[in-house]
Amino acid sequence: MLEELEQIRAEALAKLAEANDAKALEAWRVAYLGRKSPLKQVFTQMGKLPPEERPLVGKRTNEIRREFEAAYEERAAAIRQAELRRALAEERLDVTLPGRKPAPGRLHPVTQTIRRISEIFAEMGFQVLRSREVETDEYNFQLLNIPPHHPAREMQDTFYVKTQTEDDTYPVVLRTHTSPGQIHAMRMMSGYTGEGPLPENPPPLRVILPGMVYRYEQITARSEIQFTQVEGLAVGHNITFSDLKGTLADFARRMFGPEARVRFRASHFPFTEPSAEVDVECFLCGGKGCNVCKHTGWLEILGAGMVHPVVLRNGGYDPEKYSGFAFGMGPERITMLRHYIEDIRYFWSGDLRFLEQF
Ligand code: DAH
Repeated sequence: MLEELEQIRAEALAKLAEANDAKALEAWRVAYLGRKSPLKQVFTQMGKLPPEERPLVGKRTNEIRREFEAAYEERAAAIRQAELRRALAEERLDVTLPGRKPAPGRLHPVTQTIRRISEIFAEMGFQVLRSREVETDEYNFQLLNIPPHHPAREMQDTFYVKTQTEDDTYPVVLRTHTSPGQIHAMRMMSGYTGEGPLPENPPPLRVILPGMVYRYEQITARSEIQFTQVEGLAVGHNITFSDLKGTLADFARRMFGPEARVRFRASHFPFTEPSAEVDVECFLCGGKGCNVCKHTGWLEILGAGMVHPVVLRNGGYDPEKYSGFAFGMGPERITMLRHYIEDIRYFWSGDLRFLEQF
């Protein structure tokens, strides 16, 4: 029996040395330390032994079992080590490889245009202001000389946030243009609240007001319900139409190149008098005529005019003493012209294939 035990021991330890992974090790544990192991069988057969042999065999069996347990733990640790070394070797990182470039963000093409416009007017001494996008009917229309039911309101179909306010007077709208910023800018400078006598000597001002505007329109390749404008306003003593022309001509040269010329066509806006629409000579064909300018040689880029006396007064500037000019332009349109973009809907598509080109 003792011989048999030694045989079991030798065979088991030899097999353990051959177990090279967790699976083989587990199989070994079941075979030699489990319920059906040869050691267990020795125990069950102990009763058949002569009584004097039993203690010896029992003792040796227990010794071997402890030895197996220790050998098992040792082998398990060795296998864990080997697997760790293998994983480290296989999954080794080459830290000398160049890293992957993170995709950098970029400015939206319209933002780029607005920044360029702002830069140019800043060079000319204009402050850059922002005014609110949720506006009252009063600021968006009435203070700009567009009374309720004025036909000019049809030019700008409006998103109403609130159609009736508590005192039943001024509904709340999403601004349909940046022109209400004119009133905010003038009132900020003059301190006028809309009531009482006009302030004595409000300071002159030169500002541009870029921002988002909203119109309740059918979305097409040429019109969006949401787009940007840059409003301009200069108010002071003796500001004339020549100042407006000179400012916009200079803007065009800085924006589109030293050769760019502008032309003024008579137009109408309720908040300016006289009013004009301004074209810039087509910078794509140099005025010779192409598809983009529809063979006219000119591109319409903005509306402008001398600030209407009613509007000056609403801002706190006495029209007897002050005058001013204003203009409003569309950065989307300018961006489309500069980059041959044929559909305004690309700007809000969120399509990276489009946006990554700028
Ligand atoms: N607010 C006008 C529009 O949305 C654009 C405009 C025209 C602005 C003439 C002006 C201006 O300041 O003088 O169509």
